[in-house]
Amino acid sequence: MRIDIITVLPELLKSPFEASILKRAIESNLVEVHFHNLRDYTSDNYKSVDDYQFGGGAGMVMMIEPIDKCITQLKNERSYDEVIYMTPDGERLNQGIANSLSLCENIIILCGHYKGVDQRVRDTLVTKEISIGDYVLSGGELGAAVLCDTIIRLIPGVLGNETSALTDSFQDNLLAPPIYTRPRDYKGLKVPEILFSGNFPKIEEWRETEAYKRTKDRRPDLLDEDV
Ligand code: ADE
Repeated sequence: MRIDIITVLPELLKSPFEASILKRAIESNLVEVHFHNLRDYTSDNYKSVDDYQFGGGAGMVMMIEPIDKCITQLKNERSYDEVIYMTPDGERLNQGIANSLSLCENIIILCGHYKGVDQRVRDTLVTKEISIGDYVLSGGELGAAVLCDTIIRLIPGVLGNETSALTDSFQDNLLAPPIYTRPRDYKGLKVPEILFSGNFPKIEEWRETEAYKRTKDRRPDLLDEDV
């Protein structure tokens, strides 16, 4: 998979890809991540990427020209499954969206700044708009990092244990059950006995019940959603 990220602040985005699982995924060639500084696609001496809003109003708007130039250049090199714009008014990111994006070959992620991008970018260049939650970030970069993390960990081979993404919270619309490790008894706090029974079908059944109880308690809304 290849991810091209278009941003005015590449330095804000780079560190999540230089550590841990994402770093390993890149080093193992399971994913390529490329950063494109929008200022490299500007045509004036000031490298302007934004301008005042037509009709008046506070806040600058990202101009279509540099964005179009960058996306057109990328599209001349390969075809893309999606051009994603990170924006608080996009579709709210969930595990289902991450699952389907992890199957893509190539995607572009456009990070917004200031008030956002000229509507014509959204109308003609963008194919999907994603929000990471109902709050406003200073720019799309942190959202893009979150989106990339959720996608990349689902690419086969990225997680050491192939099954471990399948047992994450939200797969099957359930939260994950409680988990324990050594010691068996910590200052009187005991691990549930069933986990030492060696009866794996029973353990699985216990985990499913606990996952269901936790979901019902904390996120009953998930139980009403279609998987
Ligand atoms: N840019 C600003 N706020 C955002 C959000 N909540 N999600 C994605 N991109 C954003």
